[in-house]
Amino acid sequence: MSRLAGKVAVVTGASPNIGGALARGFAEEDAHVVCTDVDEASAAKCAASVEEVGGQALAIVGDVTDPEHATEVVAAAEERWGHVDVLVNNAVWFNQKGLMTMPLEDYRRQLDIILGGAFLFTRAVAASMISTGTAGSIINVLSTAAWQGQPGNIGYSTGKSGLVNFTRSAAMELAEHGIRVNGLTPTATQPEDPDVIARMQAMSGAPSPWPMDFTGQFPMRRLPTPRDYVPAAVLLASDESAMITGTNITVDGGATAKYWPWTPHA
Ligand SMILES: NC(=O)c1ccc[n+]([C@@H]2O[C@H](COP(=O)([O-])OP(=O)(O)OC[C@H]3O[C@@H](n4cnc5c(N)ncnc54)[C@H](O)[C@@H]3O)[C@@H](O)[C@H]2O)c1
Repeated sequence: MSRLAGKVAVVTGASPNIGGALARGFAEEDAHVVCTDVDEASAAKCAASVEEVGGQALAIVGDVTDPEHATEVVAAAEERWGHVDVLVNNAVWFNQKGLMTMPLEDYRRQLDIILGGAFLFTRAVAASMISTGTAGSIINVLSTAAWQGQPGNIGYSTGKSGLVNFTRSAAMELAEHGIRVNGLTPTATQPEDPDVIARMQAMSGAPSPWPMDFTGQFPMRRLPTPRDYVPAAVLLASDESAMITGTNITVDGGATAKYWPWTPHA
């Protein structure tokens, strides 16, 4: 398929989990992709994965909270392909801590990565889109934690819910340029990459990658995998969604639509 033919996408936080899957999914639709990450191996692995399915890729290492990194990424994409059509604000620091225990510096840093990173990259990419006359698409990766109150994850939940209205506000401001801004809401995700599974098991301290037990709670019976997010991201990135802006697509197997006391499949 070629639903993104000729388009250039920037994906931040391009780990071999969700960001990497979206980058590869875009390449499968004939987009070129810039994979950026603070971790060199993740950026390189993402670029290799894009090339494996026939796409062209750039791997760029940097911190999304660094304004120079955002402008460097846009400049590199423009130099190689002349324009940027799609941005996915995906980089995150998972740092599950509660209101009463989280160090202030951690809270500030986590919000800076989620909200500051989206601010800097959206601004840099939108400036490029405006100057090249590109009616582009910006996708902010949210989380079901943006829409519900999760205990013990105050920085993450606050940052992600902030991104909900960042999305709406940026969409309104950029509409006159034909630039669309939307959210994509994943939920607890079943990783496919063995390294990611091992990392998450180490983080959760349990045999499962997850600190919570989700068994039986998903209306659609299973956790989504990173690849389950690709169709929604491709739709938002493509011209098919020309009239979709300032909103969100939730890909959570029905988790957040569920009547709260109901246990599916009980
Ligand atoms: N995995 C899940 O279960 C899940 C659930 C809901 C939402 N999400 C969202 O999906 C997105 C991707 O999640 P994931 O599980 O693939 O995460 P991940 O931890 O696998 O990848 C995040 C990447 O961001 C990078 N990063 C961290 N700080 C950075 C910085 N300052 N600058 C640049 N890069 C930085 C990391 O190096 C990492 O490669 C995130 O926005 C996350 O909030 C994930």
